[in-house]
Amino acid sequence: MVGESIDNLKQYIDGRRPVIITDTTVAGLYQKQFPACPIISIGLGEKIKTVETVTTLFSQLVDLEADRSTLIIGVGGGIVCDIAGFVASTYMRGTPFGFVSTTLLSQVDASVGGKNGVNFGGYKNMVGVFNQPEFVICDLMLLRTLPFREIQCGFAEIIKHGAIADFRMLDFIENHRDAALDLDRAIVEHLVYRSIEIKAGVVTRDEREHGERRKLNFGHTFGHAIEKLTGIPHGEAVGIGMVMAAKLSVQKGMLPPLDARRLERIIDSYGLPVRPPVNAPSMLAAMRKDKKREGGRIHFVFLDALGSACVEEISLDELHRLVNAMEMR
Ligand SMILES: NC(=O)c1ccc[n+]([C@@H]2O[C@H](COP(=O)([O-])OP(=O)(O)OC[C@H]3O[C@@H](n4cnc5c(N)ncnc54)[C@H](O)[C@@H]3O)[C@@H](O)[C@H]2O)c1
Ligand SMILES: [Zn+2]
Repeated sequence: MVGESIDNLKQYIDGRRPVIITDTTVAGLYQKQFPACPIISIGLGEKIKTVETVTTLFSQLVDLEADRSTLIIGVGGGIVCDIAGFVASTYMRGTPFGFVSTTLLSQVDASVGGKNGVNFGGYKNMVGVFNQPEFVICDLMLLRTLPFREIQCGFAEIIKHGAIADFRMLDFIENHRDAALDLDRAIVEHLVYRSIEIKAGVVTRDEREHGERRKLNFGHTFGHAIEKLTGIPHGEAVGIGMVMAAKLSVQKGMLPPLDARRLERIIDSYGLPVRPPVNAPSMLAAMRKDKKREGGRIHFVFLDALGSACVEEISLDELHRLVNAMEMR
């Protein structure tokens, strides 16, 4: 529900007993606008996206005598929603749940697509389920309190959606940069709506990621390696990863060099970094470590035009050769 207000959340409760799961920052800012109901606050950051947090939440739900007539509502960014969705999907074999998505990244990405879960054993999103929430409210007013860097990270995923699926959206992103970064309501509403349309379209065709859904990982192969090695925010790492993936697409003869440069300019114009802060060999080593379980093969997302992606299964050795050849140019 793009443009819906958190003040209307009560209309979605529909006679059930709500329990809100949120984080301390979001509770501090918006608790006044929550409907009257029990509120469970979790801590902050990727480090709390764990099975231990899930266990604590189960205990709190038992204490509250929650059952299948309870509606669990995650109010927060991607971390809160990923955890709340997983808890709701598994507590008593599944209770109904919905989200109020409070970051740009979660509105355009994390809250769409039905992936819920937590990290485990040093691997991201290792334990989880596919399960769709009843509703997702994307209240654009909530974005006004976000730190600017979080907003920029959201735009990295919006640019990704344009790059893989809609060149006209890329034009729009390019032409409305200032208003977009200022969170001009009409501009952001259009971009959030179109992003969700693109992601939901892909997910509808391939919910469990056997094929097309992999396109949503554009920029994420290098992005994840950079994130792991440097700890820079996900959106920033993905921005750099997209620039690298576009250059590799040029290297393979799939994408005109001018298009790769244009994508880089757009990412740069949103204040996102475009140069890898670590060298290629260390990124490839990090990928090798990550992909050991899958026999060293990856599904790499290339662009064959701005607005059109294609996925190829390649070995890490092939990727290594491509990167070397690119660096020689
Ligand atoms: N399920 C999926 O398909 C999917 C897709 C993409 C990302 N994710 C996950 O999403 C997570 C990242 O999500 P995120 O970027 O939203 O991070 P986040 O949930 O940590 O939120 C970022 C920060 O902003 C704060 N915040 C949230 N809303 C705010 C508001 N309105 N005003 C001020 N501060 C606010 C939070 O407290 C937090 O400190 C990752 O764990 C990632 O794996 C999941
Ligand atoms: Zn991402």
